[in-house]
Amino acid sequence: MKPGTIPSPNIWHHTATYELENRAADPDGRLWAAMQARTDWTGRTVLDLGCGTGFHLPAFAGTAAHVIGVEPHAGLAKLAARRLRTRRVANAEVREGTAQAIPLPDASVDVVHARWAYFFGRGCEPGLVELDRVVRRGGTALVIDNDGSRSTFGGWFRRGYPHLDPPEETERFWSVRGWTLDRVDMGWRFASRADLEAVVRIEFTREVADQVLDEHRGLEVDYAVNLWSKRF
Ligand SMILES: C[S@@+](CC[C@H](N)C(=O)[O-])C[C@H]1O[C@@H](n2cnc3c(N)ncnc32)[C@H](O)[C@@H]1O
Repeated sequence: MKPGTIPSPNIWHHTATYELENRAADPDGRLWAAMQARTDWTGRTVLDLGCGTGFHLPAFAGTAAHVIGVEPHAGLAKLAARRLRTRRVANAEVREGTAQAIPLPDASVDVVHARWAYFFGRGCEPGLVELDRVVRRGGTALVIDNDGSRSTFGGWFRRGYPHLDPPEETERFWSVRGWTLDRVDMGWRFASRADLEAVVRIEFTREVADQVLDEHRGLEVDYAVNLWSKRF
């Protein structure tokens, strides 16, 4: 694996279940609307950093001039490329690489999207330096991550990952570097209870998953995320 890669056991080891998770996320398009309110990628070059299996690439390619997915895990990068071929998406490509060494020239990208980007945050400043290098003047970067300060999922997240920085520390990390926060009620809505349970089980330990599944009924979860953005 390339240096700087952060293990992502959910998508690396449970790729099909992670696809269900992506399908359940943002059922009413609130996160996409918040992203579009920050920047318009129509006719521009988009970089999806840590693109995984490329779930979001076709949506960007619908209006962007060109889309590049960058992903360090070779198997996932292949799946992302296959997704583009299968859907005949001609204006997108996938490259193996990391946030700390983005395989793109200086000033070559207008919009960066990094979703569930564990590779950003405290200790990952080299990736932010790379953004300064690859994003053109006037471009925008969008970083999406869990908001542990509120929502049902936020509570599960704090319970499941007590060792992570508290939400106020994470917010300080981004805001002192000039990033702007939009709080988005993204939500999860699953097609079946079995799908919801499978996804909860790839995100949490057995103990925490058992607890939250016992407490929570139905197919929907109130799930808040942070959309951080910065203009270059
Ligand atoms: C939780 S997954 C999210 C995938 C994708 N963004 C999505 O929304 O479907 C995080 C991804 O980041 C990738 N990753 C890990 N370390 C990275 C790094 N240093 N630079 C870029 N991507 C990284 C992982 O391989 C994984 O595919």
